[in-house]
Amino acid sequence: MAVQMPLARLLLVHRLLRTSTSGQRRLRSRDVLRECRRETRTLSTFPVKRSESKGDGWDPSPPPSSGRAPRPLSPLERLSRLLPQDALSPEVSQLRDPEEDASVAASVTHGEEAHGATPEEGDRPAASASAALPGESSLAFGELLVAEHRKKGRVEFRKMFELRPGALLQSNWGVVAHDDAAGRPAGCFMKTSRGVRFLVRRASLEDYVLYMKRGPAIAYPKDASTMLMMMDVTEGDRVLDSGSGSGAMSLFLSRAVGCKGSVLSLEVREDHHRRAVLNYKRWRESWSLRRGEEWPDNVQFHIGDLGEASSLLATQGFHAVALDLIHPHLVLPTVVPHLHPGAVCAVYLANITQVIDLLEGLRCLPLLPLLCERIIEVPVRDWVVAPALQKDGSYCVRKAPAMDRDRREEADREEQSTDEHPAFGSVPYIARPHPEQMSHTAFLVKLRKYVR
Ligand SMILES: C[S@@+](CC[C@H](N)C(=O)[O-])C[C@H]1O[C@@H](n2cnc3c(N)ncnc32)[C@H](O)[C@@H]1O
Repeated sequence: MAVQMPLARLLLVHRLLRTSTSGQRRLRSRDVLRECRRETRTLSTFPVKRSESKGDGWDPSPPPSSGRAPRPLSPLERLSRLLPQDALSPEVSQLRDPEEDASVAASVTHGEEAHGATPEEGDRPAASASAALPGESSLAFGELLVAEHRKKGRVEFRKMFELRPGALLQSNWGVVAHDDAAGRPAGCFMKTSRGVRFLVRRASLEDYVLYMKRGPAIAYPKDASTMLMMMDVTEGDRVLDSGSGSGAMSLFLSRAVGCKGSVLSLEVREDHHRRAVLNYKRWRESWSLRRGEEWPDNVQFHIGDLGEASSLLATQGFHAVALDLIHPHLVLPTVVPHLHPGAVCAVYLANITQVIDLLEGLRCLPLLPLLCERIIEVPVRDWVVAPALQKDGSYCVRKAPAMDRDRREEADREEQSTDEHPAFGSVPYIARPHPEQMSHTAFLVKLRKYVR
């Protein structure tokens, strides 16, 4: 039976909530306030099982204790139990029976598990997570990880780091101890010292090439993957890659050709060559820690000018060639004789004027058997798609067209009753291109070798 909360109790709730003053506590208090609001609907004689509860598995009845009849709790005790332990002031903490607290904590955890913790809820230790899936492994020291924090669909913080014993991940949002991440599932939420949730996950190859140390600019992942498709690179292929630069393209090629294939990567500058080799080595090391097996050792890095590499290339044949260097038309006469007939040379060029130089080069070298099949740009457009929220964090409501008064009141009642979990399809969304977009990266030119 629903009973109105008397004024004195309301004041009590107020005082209780004031005890939790820090920013993080304030957030939690908001949840608690919601619980308190629900509580006012059912607050009557104790114990009360909230049988109408559909979602959170929360049960306000006292936990069963061995042989003892349940003792009715005072309103203050009941309300204090709605607050998380660390959000309580010392005075309120004292009101809690530690034995009962443990059982309450257990039942709350059980409730979260039963209904699946959302990222908002998920800050549980790995031990309480479900058993590992076949092939799953937890985070280990030495692995390359990414920590990220998003707010309103926007990435506010993202950092790649190597998990090291005793190290700290520093950020403007607080600190996370590496030791706390080790052993946790790969893809978990962790709280910083300031109570901000960071998603901690393994670095993908895309993350790695974007965040690894660079010499020259890299071939961006979106372009590199399109080049792989252009060249139709397959497991077992032998591919020529130049210049090695920072090693990003070499890594994508290495993965594509696999352990049966190989990549010859040529770089004219020694410092760039060193950077590419180091980046490749670091990724391979991190991979073996992650998977317990070797990343293929299939890239041979060479220092040298591709335009003068005839002797290096002698007797070699390639299923594909990837060129990312400033004057590709100057090296084509050296490269093309070693490209299989019908195979593709994909060229990465930042400026359209370079594309014109390349085409002019082909026009002036009529003996080069190359067809220019395509010149493309790879646009990737990020979008923001998210439920529309009001300033207080609650969902906006889809506005119905004008109705008569009775139907409007009925609809309002429905809106109120589904306030926290609006029905599927009842929430309006914002959906538009993201205001921050990646700008132009490159033009990709597809040249196919033919036989006369
Ligand atoms: C933009 S970077 C390549 C980036 C690389 N694809 C990556 O994803 O990290 C261009 C590189 O080509 C090298 N380069 C320029 N001309 C070259 C040539 N004739 N032979 C070999 N390397 C060359 C430059 O020194 C530079 O490191």
